[in-house]
Amino acid sequence: MALFLAMLVFSNPLVFFSQISYATDTITQSQPLLDGSTLVSKEGTFELGFFTPGNSPNHYVGIWFKNIPMRTVVWVANRDNPAKDKSNMLSLSKDGNLILLGKNRSLIWSTNATIAVSNPVVQLLDNGNLVIREEKDDNMDNEENFVWQSFDYPCDTQLQGMKLGWNLKTGLNRYLTAWKNWEDPSSGDFTSGLKLGTNPELVISKGSNEYYRSGPWNGIFSSGVFGFSPNPLFEYKYVQNEDEVYVRYTLKNSSVISIIVLNQTLFLRQRITWIPHTRTWSVYQSLPQDSCDVYNVCGAYGNCMINASPVCQCLEGFKPKSPQDWNQMDWTKGCVRSEPWSCGVKNKDGFRLIAGMKMPDTTHSWINRSMTLEDCKAKCLKNCSCTAFANMDTGGGGSGCSIWFGDLVDLRISESGQDLYVRMAISGTGKDNVNADAKHKHLKKVVLVVAITVSLVLLMLLAFSYIYMTKTKYKENGTWTEEKDDGGQENLELPFFDLATIINATNNFSIDNKLGEGGFGPVYKGTMLDGHEIAVKRLSKSSGQGLKEFKNEVILCAKLQHRNLVKVLGCCVEGEEKMLLYEYMPNRSLDSFIFDPAQSKLLDWPTRFNILCAIARGLLYLHQDSRLRIIHRDLKASNILLDNNMNPKISDFGLAKMCGGDQVEGNTNRIVGTYGYMAPEYAIDGLFSIKSDVFSFGVLLLEIISGKKNRTVTYEEHSDNLIGHAWRLWKEGIPEQLIDASLVDSCNISELVRCIQVGLLCLQHHPEDRPNMTTVVVMLSSENSLSQPKVPGFLIKNISIEGEQPCGRQESCSTNEVTVSLLNAR
Ligand SMILES: *[C@@H]1O[C@H](CO)[C@@H](O)[C@H](O)[C@H]1NC(C)=O
Ligand SMILES: *[C@@H]1O[C@H](CO)[C@@H](O)[C@H](O)[C@H]1NC(C)=O
Ligand SMILES: *[C@@H]1O[C@H](CO)[C@@H](O)[C@H](O)[C@H]1NC(C)=O
Ligand SMILES: *[C@@H]1O[C@H](CO)[C@@H](O)[C@H](O)[C@H]1NC(C)=O
Ligand SMILES: *[C@@H]1O[C@H](CO)[C@@H](O)[C@H](O)[C@H]1NC(C)=O
Ligand SMILES: *[C@@H]1O[C@H](CO)[C@@H](O)[C@H](O)[C@H]1NC(C)=O
Repeated sequence: MALFLAMLVFSNPLVFFSQISYATDTITQSQPLLDGSTLVSKEGTFELGFFTPGNSPNHYVGIWFKNIPMRTVVWVANRDNPAKDKSNMLSLSKDGNLILLGKNRSLIWSTNATIAVSNPVVQLLDNGNLVIREEKDDNMDNEENFVWQSFDYPCDTQLQGMKLGWNLKTGLNRYLTAWKNWEDPSSGDFTSGLKLGTNPELVISKGSNEYYRSGPWNGIFSSGVFGFSPNPLFEYKYVQNEDEVYVRYTLKNSSVISIIVLNQTLFLRQRITWIPHTRTWSVYQSLPQDSCDVYNVCGAYGNCMINASPVCQCLEGFKPKSPQDWNQMDWTKGCVRSEPWSCGVKNKDGFRLIAGMKMPDTTHSWINRSMTLEDCKAKCLKNCSCTAFANMDTGGGGSGCSIWFGDLVDLRISESGQDLYVRMAISGTGKDNVNADAKHKHLKKVVLVVAITVSLVLLMLLAFSYIYMTKTKYKENGTWTEEKDDGGQENLELPFFDLATIINATNNFSIDNKLGEGGFGPVYKGTMLDGHEIAVKRLSKSSGQGLKEFKNEVILCAKLQHRNLVKVLGCCVEGEEKMLLYEYMPNRSLDSFIFDPAQSKLLDWPTRFNILCAIARGLLYLHQDSRLRIIHRDLKASNILLDNNMNPKISDFGLAKMCGGDQVEGNTNRIVGTYGYMAPEYAIDGLFSIKSDVFSFGVLLLEIISGKKNRTVTYEEHSDNLIGHAWRLWKEGIPEQLIDASLVDSCNISELVRCIQVGLLCLQHHPEDRPNMTTVVVMLSSENSLSQPKVPGFLIKNISIEGEQPCGRQESCSTNEVTVSLLNAR
């Protein structure tokens, strides 16, 4: 080694010199770069050298910004061939390739290009591009003269001017590949590049699966990307010709540093901008932007609407292919036309205009840049596998034609979306919409009306939350401190988790990890580093609750320990985010069993009876045995989780309180709960008490016995709901007919009749007529005779509102203008 170094010094004193001066400006055969020295671009923007990321023992050659104190590596040469120690050297081989030599001059990495120049030199340009070119090349910035350039082999960063896309002549595909993690630059399986096809799109992939697509280029940017409208920071250029297809960007202000980075930890493609005075990178934009951006969340013809609940809705004129899966938020099967459609048959074949859409996946599509929209429509009509058409270029007032074949996939409403004409039976479209200027005007009117309504509602909300918040503040001292003193003795340490851990565990709240959407927010499955599985409830942000109160509540709820309550494992509070961590229940919730014809067979009568009794005990604990007296306020089948042995556990208790609902018996402006389970006095007057929970328990009991939902079921002959139906059967002396057909064989009639009687007692109209949970537990488990139920209280809605309102957010609770009328069963 010493000899070798001496030789170098002898043959070229500059090597020695370069180590002292620390930086060189080129690498040549006689002037290699040693570990410890760097190569700096002419104006000092970028620097190339050796680095070791984090605690990694490996040495890499990389390029970073010279003037940014937080080392930001934008390119790594030997990312998949790390050097193991410090005795490395970057040099030029005889054939002109850049080579990385390790101990004993063993080859670690090479540019491996065919280079036919006599005097190659390596140079780092001021745009961050490392190039090999002829030494006497005057026009040194001309791409044509580079025999090799690092811009052709991107890592995880797209710099200004760098092409992302294809050289169609050589087949070179330039795409981004994330680092495995922040201290391992080797290639991850999270990538982003252009997908070739008739109409190329930017895609992001996880392994071989498409994870995100931008939508095809439409002259401005893509129909699926917000925030690309003209802005002072950057400008995109998309080029498609016979030789190449690529996208690149330029920065408008040369003193601003802004790059695109792919991050495998976050599963995001982010544009980040350097903020000199705070010395941090700030995120300007992330893709995917939200869960609707995730590839094909809603299945074919399913439209993802981020503000809708649930987010997936079938396109107008379409219905869920499998309503059952769809209702359980399994949208993968997608939607089908709701009216039969026949190709080419008059009045059975037409188009419906759907405005503001991200264009569907272009894998099966066709384009013509010079066709008009009319021709486009005609072209589509001629081919029976054509399902939609649209303008290709919306930038210049609309031109060109895109048509799609087969199912339309990965649809969403997007701010930068455009008009899509979807083929369906004409009677379903009202009229043919292609030349429907009038429709546009009508649309504008509708938008205006909606906008005004929304702003009014917002105003009301604002006023309401103001009143509401002042109210909570007023109560603060009384309630909270008292409880804290009371519980302080035990000093239970509730683990607080940081956001990064949760993000990691839930795969950044990946849609794949979503277990469901309950009141107060979505629930995700998470896997901790040690393999433990947990459920994470991400609370909706807009609760009026303060941080301290929230933490107190969580600690109090974590103290509630009962075998029929879901265990609270911890929480995470960071910025706007509030999350609760629960034990994970592999069998999911009761509703997925009792309301499902196939699954319901798994729960025979003895199991159901056990479940009933156990829920009663859990509720009793909440109401009476714990010091806190928790009123659940949203007891329902989907809030009952089942463990491996089908033992029920009540979840979401205390949330009404944690999310800022007042928990005193009495009157509330905020209705938290689910129609169909709410006691009359609660739904109408907002009066809640442990007796309103008893009412919900009664509904749940009838549902468990009958396998029918109170809300949705109507018995044709009498237009009764489940409660009315049960009461009718009871009066007719045939209560056992209420039972789910799948239970008939396993059922114990006297237990069953007893349960129904208890249920009806719980459903009494006046709270004082209902038993408390202690009595319920006793009634269920003893043989004593029970009192006769009177007419139950049950509600029929005059106006139906869609979905089981989660009521986690104030808006969905305070502004529900549901008129409920109380009917007395005759
Ligand atoms: C490097 O060369 C020396 C002397 O020839 C030898 O002893 C040593 O094992 C070699 N190391 C490696 C890693 O090949
Ligand atoms: C170098 O390139 C040749 C031909 O392009 C290929 O066969 C070989 O595997 C490459 N070697 C490395 C180390 O990438
Ligand atoms: C990904 O993002 C996280 C969070 O911002 C950051 O800590 C990490 O360093 C990033 N990873 C890479 C490889 O840059
Ligand atoms: C460019 O950015 C710098 C720093 O942010 C700012 O001071 C300057 O005004 C900008 N120039 C233009 C032309 O916008
Ligand atoms: C595109 O449409 C124009 C006008 O209708 C037509 O002349 C041209 O041949 C079409 N091109 C292709 C490739 O179909
Ligand atoms: C309809 O389009 C499909 C897909 O491009 C094509 O395979 C088929 O030949 C076309 N049919 C007709 C009748 O043009």
